[in-house]
Amino acid sequence: MNLSVVIAVIMSLSIEMARSTKWKFNRQSVLKGDTCLSEDGSSYRGTVSWSKSGRRCLHWGRYISIWGTSSGIGSHNFCRNPDSSSMPWCRVRIGTNIVKEYCEIPKCSTPTLKTPVVQPKDTELTCGQASEHRQFKIVGGSFTPIESQPWVAAILNRRGDLLCGGSLIAPCWVLTAAHCFEGNFTSSLKCDSLNKAEMLDQNTSHFTVYLGKKATNETNTSKEQKFMVEKMIINRRYNSTNYNHDIALLKIKNKDGECAVKTAATRTVCLPPFRTQLPDSYQCSVAGYGRENEHAWTYSNVLKEGRVNLLSQSECRKKNFYGDSITGNMLCAANPNWSTDSCKGDSGGPLVCEVGGRMFLFGVVSWGDGCAQKNKPGVYTRVTNYNKWIAKNTGLPQYTAGKMYPTK
Ligand SMILES: *[C@@H]1O[C@H](CO)[C@@H](O)[C@H](O)[C@H]1NC(C)=O
Ligand SMILES: *[C@@H]1O[C@H](CO)[C@@H](O)[C@H](O)[C@H]1NC(C)=O
Ligand SMILES: *[C@@H]1O[C@H](CO)[C@@H](O)[C@H](O)[C@H]1NC(C)=O
Ligand SMILES: *[C@@H]1O[C@H](CO)[C@@H](O)[C@H](O)[C@H]1NC(C)=O
Ligand SMILES: *[C@@H]1O[C@H](CO)[C@@H](O)[C@H](O)[C@H]1NC(C)=O
Ligand SMILES: *[C@@H]1O[C@H](CO)[C@@H](O)[C@H](O)[C@H]1NC(C)=O
Repeated sequence: MNLSVVIAVIMSLSIEMARSTKWKFNRQSVLKGDTCLSEDGSSYRGTVSWSKSGRRCLHWGRYISIWGTSSGIGSHNFCRNPDSSSMPWCRVRIGTNIVKEYCEIPKCSTPTLKTPVVQPKDTELTCGQASEHRQFKIVGGSFTPIESQPWVAAILNRRGDLLCGGSLIAPCWVLTAAHCFEGNFTSSLKCDSLNKAEMLDQNTSHFTVYLGKKATNETNTSKEQKFMVEKMIINRRYNSTNYNHDIALLKIKNKDGECAVKTAATRTVCLPPFRTQLPDSYQCSVAGYGRENEHAWTYSNVLKEGRVNLLSQSECRKKNFYGDSITGNMLCAANPNWSTDSCKGDSGGPLVCEVGGRMFLFGVVSWGDGCAQKNKPGVYTRVTNYNKWIAKNTGLPQYTAGKMYPTK
């Protein structure tokens, strides 16, 4: 015997019993509930009274009911699911049989309720921790997973091309180089008579910032975070002739107004205390999506990391190096055999040094003659001169206090 025959038999029995009993229901209470289908429809209290096959539903009151009014059964013929079936149903007549048939109830549109999920955020006490330490050696540096340099930001211009790198120093703030925002002066006449610093492109709507990006030509939405620039702060003393004070801050927010969420691919880097200096030759690393070498006009696209050693100020100011071009706001670093260096497109990116097991941002990629040329080290903005400037402009003195820096 198949199921519908069984049901039909039971139902014809119940018709007989129902005839001798009068069922009274309160219509009002019967209709309180959903008028659309959610889940199995057990809370459906709407008025659809046709089965899927288009047959008219029979009145519930004609049958003895083991289900009370609380399950929506009452003095009506609307589809209901009082018995944990997969969806609301009703009895219909097929020929001489009474059978159970399912009904088609319009689905409730899933409510787009924003459940307030508390997203993890880095604080000034959780900075400088990479979740991986892997590198893949290649000529002049190594490809590195973003998880090894999770503070690296990619700043894109209005055409969506890589403009510069940056470093996440707090969930809402990216530190980068001021020179990244210089407009295209070759196209405008008479610009020589103007101070270039007054012509910086400070239209924040021209830039997009990505965090957690493995490669600039690849998108992984589950891993990367995309931001608009809410505020751009370029150091007022920036001199585009000699690149002194080459430092800028970007306040970022995503389309929901939120800042960076802490993930394996997105973390903040620590800021060292004011005026901290590391010994000469200290090994640090520079990371960016920049150009492979001076002569290749394509960017590497994929995040790269290179080892560089810090150079003393006096060494870098030697005649055969950069001489007087190096100001006290700059820091030099180079690979001892001149094989790796920061390059175009790495600008704004981080020079980080590991101290006491955490990564600290000591430099912002600024300038250099060529890339990895002999006696022409990379020149970086000396971040430890700008703690007060960063604190004042971000309003976050706790991030610039250098709390996580080991004390002797
Ligand atoms: C600057 O503008 C000129 C003229 O519009 C254009 O040919 C050149 O490619 C631009 N340079 C850069 C770096 O955008
Ligand atoms: C910024 O750029 C956008 C798009 O190019 C433009 O619509 C807007 O007017 C600019 N805003 C300012 C203040 O220049
Ligand atoms: C991105 O660029 C890298 C290096 O230029 C290349 O190996 C990779 O295939 C590119 N990825 C895509 C999706 O084009
Ligand atoms: C995207 O990132 C997630 C999380 O790290 C990873 O599991 C997934 O394999 C990535 N997808 C691609 C296409 O790389
Ligand atoms: C910028 O640097 C150049 C070269 O060192 C110098 O001559 C000029 O006076 C500087 N400008 C300002 C405003 O300090
Ligand atoms: C240059 O230094 C890197 C590591 O710093 C090393 O792997 C490489 O072999 C060196 N190259 C030469 C030519 O000495």
